Amino acid sequence: MRPLVATVDLAAICHNYALAKRCAPGRRAFAVVKADAYGHGAAAVVAALRDVADGFAVCSVEEARVVREQAPEARLLLLEGCFDAEDYAAAMEMGLDISVQGAEQARRLLDCAPTRPLNVWLKLDSGMHRLGFEPAELQHWAEVLRAAPQVAEVNLMSHLACADEHMHQLTDRQLESCLGMQEFVFDQRSFANSAAVLTLAPAHTDWLRPGIMLYGASPFAERSAAELGLRPVMTLTAEVIALHDVPVGDSVGYGATWVAQRPSRIGTVSCGYADGYPRHAPSGTCVVVRGQRVPLAGRVSMDMLAVDLTDLPDAAIGDSVELWGAQMPVDEVAQASGTIGYELLTKVTQRVPRKYLS
Ligand SMILES: Cc1ncc(COP(=O)(O)O)c(C=O)c1O
Repeated sequence: MRPLVATVDLAAICHNYALAKRCAPGRRAFAVVKADAYGHGAAAVVAALRDVADGFAVCSVEEARVVREQAPEARLLLLEGCFDAEDYAAAMEMGLDISVQGAEQARRLLDCAPTRPLNVWLKLDSGMHRLGFEPAELQHWAEVLRAAPQVAEVNLMSHLACADEHMHQLTDRQLESCLGMQEFVFDQRSFANSAAVLTLAPAHTDWLRPGIMLYGASPFAERSAAELGLRPVMTLTAEVIALHDVPVGDSVGYGATWVAQRPSRIGTVSCGYADGYPRHAPSGTCVVVRGQRVPLAGRVSMDMLAVDLTDLPDAAIGDSVELWGAQMPVDEVAQASGTIGYELLTKVTQRVPRKYLS
C-alpha cells in the first residue's frame, strides 16, 4: 500500500471546540464542518463532536445530509441558504436552520409549502459585500418573515472580512453595522468566525461559528496555532521511498530548478500535488524526518516530492516523513506556498486515506 496517510486526531478537535467555547462563556457554537469538515471527513468529525457541539454549519444540503446521519437532532445551519425549491423541501425535511442572504432567496422561501417552519438566519451585508441584505432591506424582510408560516425563529447573522487582522478598520465598521440592528428584536444573533471567537469579544453574540480553529490551524498570519492553545488535528505522513546521491551541479526534479551546491543525498517522498501537497511550495519548505526539519529540493511532482537529506546521513528508505502536523504546522507550509492553512487542509484529495484517532 502506498505509504501516505492523513491521521486525524478527534480528541484534538474536541479540545479545540472546548477552547472556542471557553473564549465566549455562555455562548453556543456551530462547529463549521463544511467542505467535508475542512478536509478531515465530516462524518467522523461530527460523530466525535455530536455530544459536545451545540450545532453544526455546512454549505449545502448535500453536506447537511452527511451531518444529519450522524447528528439527527442537532441544530444544523445552512450557511449560504437554499438554492432552489428542492433545497427548501430538503431543509424542511431535515429541520435545518437556513441562512437567507437576499430577496430572491426570501421570496422562494415564501413560495414553499410550510411543511415545517424553519429557523431563518437573515444575513446582513455589514461590509464584506459577498452575501446579505442592506440594513433597511433586512428590517423589511425580518418583518415579512416573522409573519410567514414557513418561518420559526428570525435570527441575524453576518460575516467579518478582516477579523484576522489586528484592529482592522473594516471590522469596526462591520461590528457597528451589526450592532446597529439592535432595535429589531432577533431571536438569535451570530457574527463570529474563528478569528473573532479568539480575539473579538464584541462579536460574541448568541452563536459562534468557529471553523479553522477546530482543525488546529490559526486564522492569523502573525499568531501560531500553538500560541493560541490549539492542538493540531491532521498529520499528513508519507515515507522516503528512494534515495539518490546527487553530485555537485546536477539537478533534481522537473524543470531542473534545484541544483546541488554540494554532494547531496536526495530522498524521494510518497506525496505530491495530486494528494494535496501544494505544488507551489518552493525549495526550502520543510518536512520532518526523524524529528528533524529537512528542506524540499526542486518542484513538487504529481505523486512525489524530493527532500535534501544531506544533513541527515542516517535517513533511510522507509523513514516516515511528516508533511504537516504537530512538528511542522500546516500554517507554515501554507505561508511558504503563498496560501493559507484552510486551502491546504480542504485540498487533501480523496486518494489519501484518513485514519482516525479517538
Ligand atoms: C459564513 C461563515 N461562517 C463561519 C465560517 C468559519 O470561518 P473560520 O474557518 O475562519 O472560523 C465561514 C468560513 O468560511 C463562513 O463562511
